[in-house]
Amino acid sequence: MKKNLFLFASLLAIVLVSCKTPPKEDYSWVKKGIDVASAQLKFTTTEIADSAMLPRSIWVGYEMDFLCEQLGRDSMTFKDSLRLKPIQRLGQRRLAGIYDWTSGFFPGTLWYTYELTGDNALKQQAIKFTNLLYPVRKYTGTHDLGFMMNCSFGNAGRLSPSDTIPSILQQTADNLISRYNPQIGAIRSWDFGKWNFPVIIDNMMNLDLLFNVSKLTGDPRYKDVAIKHAYKTMKYHFRPDYSSYHVISYNDDGSVEYRNTHQGKNDESSWARGQSWAVYGYISCYRETGDKAFLDFAVNIADFIMSRVKTDDLIPLWDYDAPDTPETPRDASAASIVASAFIELSTIVPDGGKYLDYAVTIMKNLSSDAYLAKVGENQGFILMHSTGSLPNGSEIDTPLNYADYYYMEALQRYMELKGLEYKDL
Ligand code: GLY
Repeated sequence: MKKNLFLFASLLAIVLVSCKTPPKEDYSWVKKGIDVASAQLKFTTTEIADSAMLPRSIWVGYEMDFLCEQLGRDSMTFKDSLRLKPIQRLGQRRLAGIYDWTSGFFPGTLWYTYELTGDNALKQQAIKFTNLLYPVRKYTGTHDLGFMMNCSFGNAGRLSPSDTIPSILQQTADNLISRYNPQIGAIRSWDFGKWNFPVIIDNMMNLDLLFNVSKLTGDPRYKDVAIKHAYKTMKYHFRPDYSSYHVISYNDDGSVEYRNTHQGKNDESSWARGQSWAVYGYISCYRETGDKAFLDFAVNIADFIMSRVKTDDLIPLWDYDAPDTPETPRDASAASIVASAFIELSTIVPDGGKYLDYAVTIMKNLSSDAYLAKVGENQGFILMHSTGSLPNGSEIDTPLNYADYYYMEALQRYMELKGLEYKDL
């Protein structure tokens, strides 16, 4: 009898313990993402070993009628604004020079993948492709210097510090703040087009360079410019529902000249990547300043994004207002930027769980066969199905190096948040 009681108690204990132990979380999608990235980057670095150019996307064509449908525009008016395509290059890897706005992303992706894996071969390639960008420190012709130099040299400084990196970043930041106009209160974005002083929402992403350089040098000037730019953008770039215009152009007295959405469906539409740049940018501003106005604003943008993206997998249509059809191109880059931003946001706000869940859903979907490339395919890029600039007939439903960059950044942030090590996956 005693023996039976003992057996019964032991069985009960086993059942209770096994009920209490939560199922082990499945991180196979994380491992798959990192392994594919690692293999694709090695494939690409071998293929372009002798090139001084950097991978940007794959050349793709487009059907004029399809684009007109997407834009809801008259084909005759539309046709005139399109650039000619280099037909013979379709399907090939599109490389970019070091002064292209995307030049920092490939080295940055190598740095993140090195950080995640500890693979020294990736580190050597990261150093090589970062060093290609050394002349960019003297470039004054764009606001994209943050993308170019903070994603490359900024990550190099974080993961493999050297004496020269802070001065390279400072020289670049000096050139970026030389584009700041104190009367207007913003950094000028483009030097082309019809605009008097165009500022694009993407420019929020260049502020991290300025925050970084203020920390490296102790000189507050860079951070001050970043804060002024962020406040000006907060005031004029957004609609009452917290969606963002792409371009706001200012008159010399700081008043608004034009409100446009150059890469979106129309001026009043919500271009997907623009919304992603916006939320990411204001989360950075809060991290670097502790100013609650930036956090509240970021939360409002985040909630707008969550309320407007209706796709099952949370990878948005290229513009939230694009036709809701299965043929409408998605933008995986917009999704990976949001995933990375939301992981950070989830660590700041009390109800952060909903942002983390959203980010994880995006990342699991990007890590599925629907978006993640097969090794040796996709011209060596990690993700498929992004959209660069549909209204300009450019990079429609193709890989983009910045989709890869923010996907790897999101994986890195997730691994850090969960305290995961690659070897334990
Ligand atoms: N910064 C340009 C773009 O997002 O397409």
